[in-house]
Amino acid sequence: MAIAASRHSSGVTHPVGKTAQPTTYRPGGTLIHVDHLTRTFESPSGTLNALEDVSLDVQTGEFLAIVGPSGCGKTTLLRILAGLDKPTTGTLDAPGRFPTNALVFQGRSVFPWMTVEDNITYGLKLTGVPRSERRERATALLRLIGIERFRASFPHQLSEGMRQRVAIARALAVDPDLLLMDEPFSALDEQTKLILQDEVLDIWERTRKTIVFITHSIDEALVMADRIVVFTAQPGRIKAIVDVDFPRPRDFLTVRSDPHFAERFRCVWDLLRDEVTIASRRSVEGTR
Ligand SMILES: Nc1ncnc2c1ncn2[C@@H]1O[C@H](COP(=O)(O)OP(=O)(O)OP(=O)(O)O)[C@@H](O)[C@H]1O
Ligand SMILES: [Mg+2]
Repeated sequence: MAIAASRHSSGVTHPVGKTAQPTTYRPGGTLIHVDHLTRTFESPSGTLNALEDVSLDVQTGEFLAIVGPSGCGKTTLLRILAGLDKPTTGTLDAPGRFPTNALVFQGRSVFPWMTVEDNITYGLKLTGVPRSERRERATALLRLIGIERFRASFPHQLSEGMRQRVAIARALAVDPDLLLMDEPFSALDEQTKLILQDEVLDIWERTRKTIVFITHSIDEALVMADRIVVFTAQPGRIKAIVDVDFPRPRDFLTVRSDPHFAERFRCVWDLLRDEVTIASRRSVEGTR
């Protein structure tokens, strides 16, 4: 099933029960091809199937959001994409050189003992980039994310929102092919979150990095993403992929004010609701 997408409509592919196939969304060809991936974990209480038969093409230059109930394997998939974990079965490959990546997690993504500048240039230092070049790169990034005057500050002297900006700048500093973000704004207050969403959209417009972005917020996914991957409750399978074609460049207010926003929200929530219900029932009953 693929619902034909008008300019403002969300095409939905990967319906439940079918093997996931790449959608037609192709901004720049395939960056990473994920094929029939599973990940199981062994524990004293038995085998846990975290991910099951996940097939997905991450397209070069796209903003891909992943939503799904807690425990459905979103972080596990991101860690596999980052090369920090391996699939139990299935493959992960890239048409060209395997893309470099950088990760941004929620909270505590920066080293508390380093200044903002040292945090941002940490990855560059590791790869032997000379000091003068590191300074130049830091200046550009501090400007890009609007925290130039905090260059010599330590993380504890910043607000949570500023710290997340530093974490984003640190990830961008190494100029990764793929930026992986795991609920980067979940610890922020609502207003700071809105501002950072717009800032990341702006950064995406300027850099056109491929971004895979995990969120629990349907609003956030709709505002930011080109496609939204909806996961089932554990074991995480791809339930559907929703194409989001609000015009770009975007900002939070414009997208939220779009007359089609409510309909899109409903489309994603209709896909998610049962999965969230299953996951929360399990957590109440203490079953997995
Ligand atoms: N290293 C591990 N060892 C054993 N089980 C693990 C491990 N990592 C993850 N899991 C389990 O795999 C499942 C998926 O975990 P994961 O962290 O990927 O979920 P998630 O979708 O990111 O959840 P949340 O939305 O709460 O962050 C969970 O049941 C988790 O307990
Ligand atoms: Mg997670």
